[in-house]
Amino acid sequence: MSEALPSHLVAIEDLDRGHVDAILARAEAIDAGRRFDCAPGPLVSLFFESSTRTRLSFESAANGLGLRVHHLDVARSSTSKGESLVDTIRTVDALRPGFLVLRHGSAGAAALAWRHTAASVVNAGDGSHEHPTQALLDAFTIRERFGRVEGLRVAIVGDVLHSRVARSNVRLLTMLGAEVVFVGPTFLVPAGLASLGARVAHDLDAELAHVDVLYLLRIQHERQRAGALPSPAAYLAHYGLTSERLARLRPDAVVMHPGPVNRGVEITDEALAAPRSLVQRQVEAGVLVRMAVLSLLPGRAGREAAA
Ligand code: NCD
Repeated sequence: MSEALPSHLVAIEDLDRGHVDAILARAEAIDAGRRFDCAPGPLVSLFFESSTRTRLSFESAANGLGLRVHHLDVARSSTSKGESLVDTIRTVDALRPGFLVLRHGSAGAAALAWRHTAASVVNAGDGSHEHPTQALLDAFTIRERFGRVEGLRVAIVGDVLHSRVARSNVRLLTMLGAEVVFVGPTFLVPAGLASLGARVAHDLDAELAHVDVLYLLRIQHERQRAGALPSPAAYLAHYGLTSERLARLRPDAVVMHPGPVNRGVEITDEALAAPRSLVQRQVEAGVLVRMAVLSLLPGRAGREAAA
């Protein structure tokens, strides 16, 4: 176990417990006002899929560490002329960035990018595969509220099948000793997902009274087969968080969601605004945790020095 991070953060399995503890401790120290150095930039961010929170919080984290940030406007880049991802990464690498933050619709994109750049690569979401900094900010938020993650019961509810957030979260939460249950209809939570280390359940109402954290997922409309989804009202009736379900949670249980929220589908307006909803704190934690990650990664300078 070591504090210094590997050259990249593509998936939770790149981290051991020592790395995770170092990231969470550093994010706490940053929250308390401590400042940390970072390997030199610039940071290039490449978002091939839409983003509000993740892109803004990486930029804000980079600014907080004094890194210059370059965004590639992918819709207007040579990708629209047919340039491949590898060629785009090679082109970006020629500008010698210290860090590359990548979001892409294909699972494996960040791992592929890492082979074609000397920058430290951070995966900001690759298809339905992983989104490791989201899981880290979620773990930070949970630990801040409960003082621990170990022994907690976490229900991850909804479109687990298509969710990179669920994959990163189950890996990290179980590493930290939480018990995870995936809850949703069989076509979004098939039995095979139990191989990721969670129990699989289909009756949300039967789980409500037992969870410490109710973690709701966005329905990934962009990744569904056409016609596969029930109506929003039917989804809400079976798996949405309504005021009535909220009232049946344990007194100290919390509600989380990675955003963006489909209001009235996964969660009602009232439930989202409830005092036990940590959704805004998750966004704040995103900046702290991404500052921690960037300041612990070796960057290009560290990778070249180690080569
Ligand atoms: C998530 C994502 O893009 O994977 N959002 C985020 O990063 N906060 C979840 C989602 O889009 O549903």
